[in-house]
Amino acid sequence: MASLWGGRFEKDMDELVKKYNASIFFDQRMYNEDIDGSIAHVTMLAKQGIVTEGERDQIIAGLESIRKDIAAGKIVFTVEDEDIHMGIESRLTARIGEVGKKLHTARSRNDQCQVDGRLYLKKEIREILNSLCCLESVILEKAEKYADKITVGFTHLQHAQPITLGFVFMAYFQMFRRDIERLTQTLERMDYNPLGACALAGTTMPIDRHFTSQLLGFAAPCENAMDAVSDRDYSLEFLSDASISMMHLSRWAEEFAWWNSSEFSYIAIDDSFCTGSSIMPQKKNPDMAELIRGKVGRVYGDLMQLLTVMKGTPLAYNKDFQEDKESLFDAVDTWKASIDIFTKMLDKTEFRMDQIEKQLGKGFLNATDVAEHLAKQGIPFREAHSIVGRMVKTCEGKGCDLEDLTQEDLQAIDSRVTKESLGDISIPSCVDARVSFGGTAPSEVRRQIAVGRAWLESLAEQ
Ligand code: ARG
Repeated sequence: MASLWGGRFEKDMDELVKKYNASIFFDQRMYNEDIDGSIAHVTMLAKQGIVTEGERDQIIAGLESIRKDIAAGKIVFTVEDEDIHMGIESRLTARIGEVGKKLHTARSRNDQCQVDGRLYLKKEIREILNSLCCLESVILEKAEKYADKITVGFTHLQHAQPITLGFVFMAYFQMFRRDIERLTQTLERMDYNPLGACALAGTTMPIDRHFTSQLLGFAAPCENAMDAVSDRDYSLEFLSDASISMMHLSRWAEEFAWWNSSEFSYIAIDDSFCTGSSIMPQKKNPDMAELIRGKVGRVYGDLMQLLTVMKGTPLAYNKDFQEDKESLFDAVDTWKASIDIFTKMLDKTEFRMDQIEKQLGKGFLNATDVAEHLAKQGIPFREAHSIVGRMVKTCEGKGCDLEDLTQEDLQAIDSRVTKESLGDISIPSCVDARVSFGGTAPSEVRRQIAVGRAWLESLAEQ
């Protein structure tokens, strides 16, 4: 079958070349966007008097019938279609006759594939933003529920200070808030229309790119035609947004895996989010958390793939750019599914406060609080730090907690320290007192929740 571009060729493409060259097997995912772009284009051509209104109507009806048939699975694309643009255009002409050949006036596949790509990604970004907002809303619910429940705060995976669970949730809330803001900015920056850039240099035809931009819901046309067909920054920005957000998910997934271990037992992941072992009957494995952790690798790979494709490519369009799609689609699918799975898993997870409580007595979680008490009484913090360090050493020798040191023990360490000067260093008092802005006290966590909720509600109103 001769290709739509076959005029100057004497030979058909080699079979291997056809297969290697074709993008139809993956770019058919964007058939709706391709048809939307064509309808906007022909509507503009008619407004500008380049085609008649009758021709426009015939073309639009043909495109809509093709859309219906693709959706119903009645059209099977093959390697002969080469890509979705030609797959649709050749069928249009087959259905409505010669008039179909007018559609490709004042455009090129170089701008067409970019219209499709941007429309597709804008739609997916809106869905991903929606998924991230659902995750944020589950986080807020959990943060409220556990606002004053105490757990162990770690640094270097060592017991550090007592914190509230609500505080942990709100830390993750901030990460996903930045992901949402970053993705929203990507969406704004990519909202420009390449249609009418044509191959690279615009056209002599009297087109109206502002009109097609309006019809397709873009903020404005891309300013420079050559940039419009050569730019893949928007995909790269999306992939880097996806990479950062997947990294956030993987960090929490990692915490889920160890919180769920027999050593920790902080949580029990719902049965419906775990799998069993084919040999060990007792096993209940946190596979979803591990898969999320693992799938980050794909998304980083997708970003590296496209960065590498784009490196050193000269202006304007090069066939290398056809390699911009599969990695993008993979990242869209992987990121979206990972957020949704994580959200559901989090929603169904209960924290085992009885188990967590058993850990609170270990590792001198209140040591910093003792040092701060002493500092409040006029002992310079550096000295207070060293005094408490010696107290901890004595405790380790005696096998007791800081609260158990006797008056004699304390006086032997430093004459300024008495049992009274230690103040109230029970774990709940330590947590309640960390009211500095952004701190872990329940009152402060509730303030953070209120700010987070107001922000999330403001997004819903937009
Ligand atoms: N399938 C191509 C792509 O995805 C469409 C653009 C082809 N343009 C060209 N001049 N060969 O990039």
